[in-house]
Amino acid sequence: MIRLVALLVLLAQPVFAQEVCRDLNSGLQTIHPFKAAIPCLSDDQLKRFFRGNTLFGVTRRTEPTRIGFPGGIGPRYSAQSCAHCHVFNRKGEVPRSPNRAIGVAVALLSLEATDLLGKTLSPYATDLPYGEGRLLTADGAVPHYVIWETNPSAAEYAVRMPMALTGLGLIENVEEEIILELADPDDLDGDGVSGRVSRTANGQVGRFGWKAQHASLVGVTIFALENDMGLTVFESLKLICKSNLSCDAPNSGEAIEVEKAELALLVDYLRYLSAPSDVPSAEGFTLFKTTGCAACHIPSLPTKHPANGARVSIPIYSDLLLHDMGPALADPASVSPNTASEWRTAPLWGLAATLRLAGELSLMHDGRAKTLSEAILAHDGEAHNARQNFLRLEASARDKLLNFLKSL
Ligand code: HEC
Ligand code: HEC
Repeated sequence: MIRLVALLVLLAQPVFAQEVCRDLNSGLQTIHPFKAAIPCLSDDQLKRFFRGNTLFGVTRRTEPTRIGFPGGIGPRYSAQSCAHCHVFNRKGEVPRSPNRAIGVAVALLSLEATDLLGKTLSPYATDLPYGEGRLLTADGAVPHYVIWETNPSAAEYAVRMPMALTGLGLIENVEEEIILELADPDDLDGDGVSGRVSRTANGQVGRFGWKAQHASLVGVTIFALENDMGLTVFESLKLICKSNLSCDAPNSGEAIEVEKAELALLVDYLRYLSAPSDVPSAEGFTLFKTTGCAACHIPSLPTKHPANGARVSIPIYSDLLLHDMGPALADPASVSPNTASEWRTAPLWGLAATLRLAGELSLMHDGRAKTLSEAILAHDGEAHNARQNFLRLEASARDKLLNFLKSL
């Protein structure tokens, strides 16, 4: 009998060996759905996920702490940890009371202000008593800031909400060719929707951030460490001088405050986050397509699993391309001169979990829309037709479409 069991185990092994794990989430709706690790990770990968998670949450101070966490925050900063802004990795919310005003949103500064103040407004500073400026309103509307010590022409800014951090390693692994194929910059198919590939300064295809301005998770993380937390990353001087930021800008200190190994752990943490676990409802999907939403919010993209490279497809509802969304959504030209009205199609996966968690929604890049309908009505430019089609739907069809979005 024992021999038979041993034989069965032997026979079964090749089958196990061939089966590649492709799960994108646990299938369970957890309390913190955006904090979960993607299934299929090796023990070593899971260890790195947890170590990265700790670094993501740790409050950094100017000096190292006794329990061994590094210091180095400032001189200018918006928050002392990633988790201050990315609370449970959920989508950010516009500030609704002064107490909740810490770092929920980020003000991107005009290019003129960049030499003086860096790329983002830092409400906190160790070298200025009141930081570079502060949040002026906290009433549930798009936040307004006041900026001290700068000439009026440099005082323009644009607001960005933190997005839900989800499926990031899967997005990172989407091959450039796939994104290039989806682009139709001259609208050759004549559907009114073009879609342009975002290119970073060194020519890579951008995919992260509201304007797809970052090509990699390393790039986003270095940007956040530098600009949101005032930390000098191991090769930051090189990077700062390469970007259009002056090498004399605040925070370009010479001491390294984030070592290579620490950066790699943070990036692996992001890379190994799971995809959302809700199963989209079948009802309403056809309406989503016939209304024209799926022209940009592409329901599924092929990619590779970050744990093992297995081929998978993800229900991301985005083409990761930039679309002109019309003047009402545009940044001031002084902040993003080449892409003022262009935005990356916001991935819609995770809306169901976001709705379960959020008191009130803060949709679109600056949180201006409190409901899904408001978000759709804010669509213009290339999405003008889709918005008009949505408005023309009968009430029951509109509800069906909205319920579909709520199930993603
Ligand atoms: C002061 C608030 C703040 C802090 C601190 C912060 N972030 Fe962010 N994060 C944001 C905002 C706002 C965005 C959207 C920025 C944009 O696209 O312009 C963002 C975007 C991101 C994205 C892109 C997600 C996507 O789907 O494209 C990643 C990844 C990210 N942050 C990781 C981090 C990490 C890692 C840290 C810590 C090293 C960090 N953030 C610290 C506010 C913050
Ligand atoms: C031309 C491309 C395009 C079309 C068509 C389009 N969208 Fe969008 N959508 C976008 C872009 C780009 C954004 C992000 C805009 C911003 O942040 O300012 C967005 C944002 C959203 C958001 C907010 C997501 C978030 O996380 O804040 C929702 C919801 C949404 N779209 C639903 C729809 C629906 C429903 C339709 C069809 C009626 C539709 N969209 C049609 C490009 C498009």
